[in-house]
Amino acid sequence: MTMSVLPSSASPPAVSLEFPTGFVWGAATASFQIEGATTVDGRTDSIWDEFCRRPGAVANGDTGEPAADHYHRYAEDVELMASLGLGAYRFSVAWPRVRPDGGAVNEAGLDFYDRLVDRLLAAGIAPWVTLYHWDLPQALEEAGGWTYRDTAFRFADYASSVAGRLGDRVAGWNTLNEPWCSAFVGYGSGRHAPGVTSPAAAVAAVHHLLLGHGLAMERLRAEAPGAPAGITLNLFPVSAASTAAADVEAARRVDGLQNRVFLDPVLRGGYPADVLTDLAPYGLPALVREGDLAVIATPVDLLGVNYYRALLVAAPVLRSAAPSEWVGAEDVRFLPSGRPRTEMGWEVQPEGLTELLLRLDAEYPRLPLYVTENGAAYPDSVGPDGKVRDPSRQAFLEGHLRAAHAAVAAGVDLRGYFCWSLLDNLEWAEGYAKRFGLVHVDFETQRRTVKESARWYSGVVARNGLVE
Ligand code: FCB
Repeated sequence: MTMSVLPSSASPPAVSLEFPTGFVWGAATASFQIEGATTVDGRTDSIWDEFCRRPGAVANGDTGEPAADHYHRYAEDVELMASLGLGAYRFSVAWPRVRPDGGAVNEAGLDFYDRLVDRLLAAGIAPWVTLYHWDLPQALEEAGGWTYRDTAFRFADYASSVAGRLGDRVAGWNTLNEPWCSAFVGYGSGRHAPGVTSPAAAVAAVHHLLLGHGLAMERLRAEAPGAPAGITLNLFPVSAASTAAADVEAARRVDGLQNRVFLDPVLRGGYPADVLTDLAPYGLPALVREGDLAVIATPVDLLGVNYYRALLVAAPVLRSAAPSEWVGAEDVRFLPSGRPRTEMGWEVQPEGLTELLLRLDAEYPRLPLYVTENGAAYPDSVGPDGKVRDPSRQAFLEGHLRAAHAAVAAGVDLRGYFCWSLLDNLEWAEGYAKRFGLVHVDFETQRRTVKESARWYSGVVARNGLVE
């Protein structure tokens, strides 16, 4: 009789979906969404403080207070991260803490991030800093905000202040988070702060944000030469709903406005010709001064990719005059593909992440990629047994990690994954009702509860991948 080493049951042997050695496993947050303490230690208003005061701008009248009170509870939050075994934490620095009103440096504001970075390092967690996650000082908005060229230079000065203080300890840098949102949602549709509805302003903001990115890259090179730096974009696979010329044209427009208007200047040294033409009526060519494109194309070490879903695009049926994010393609339609949706109404499309990573790898210079955000909102609550059971989030994360792994297996240089978000937080215009956290936050008591998905993610981190 021969002995079999295989298990006698019918179950197949475990297959490991391991990620490359040194893969960075983390979670992400942003200052305004979690910190609270909006008037503490010299911080002044950001455009989001002002926007939250506008009746009807943010669901339920929610504001940046108390958020997750992370400003006061950061030590507890670092302990939570350590208990989950996270290797890295991506957070953003609040410009109006570091340079209140966009003016002189406020050491007390920098002190907070100094303490946070030291805590993280003591816990063995690599600090990843985003310089701008949407909280422009309100005083700079009143001077013209991102529609005003000078703001790019103010951003570079702020970047120097942060890099000068933290640059000896930060593991990785993102200049901007999702300039698409800052420009087109902030100044185009006005759904986000500062709530402006002007296509020309949105286009000016695109160029000045990109210029700010390039200028900040130069400062990071000088002040923090050791750590990799780049930009984080929210990128989407875009497909046309049919082969009809009008749908194909709508998809080209959307891909241009969402993806290529940012990717090409940063990674290829210029705006795509079709996008320049599309945006000429809104003044893009005239905004570009001599030397700007070289600054914007300052070499980056990495590209941060925020991935939530894909877009299926169809041509407009009717024309309306409503403010839109889609400058020059205002009434473009987005069709459902029939997948289940998260609480944001976003379809769950993990395969789009593979597609996106493969495209970036094929079309742009081979750059290290990091998924800097990916996650889902579901209506979580703490059960009578004290647990937060969130199988939908776990399934979402698992699907996307498989999709990321498929890209790695195809040779894509993906180096890290940050789950959005560490904590439930203020989901911008949606307020506190949309919960993206791995950790549940009771906003009345500030009690934190680790969700079941977080326990699962912690196991993935410990194994450097999935096991099936
Ligand atoms: C991204 C933002 C992040 C969060 C997620 C859900 O667009 O960068 O702050 O709101 O969406």
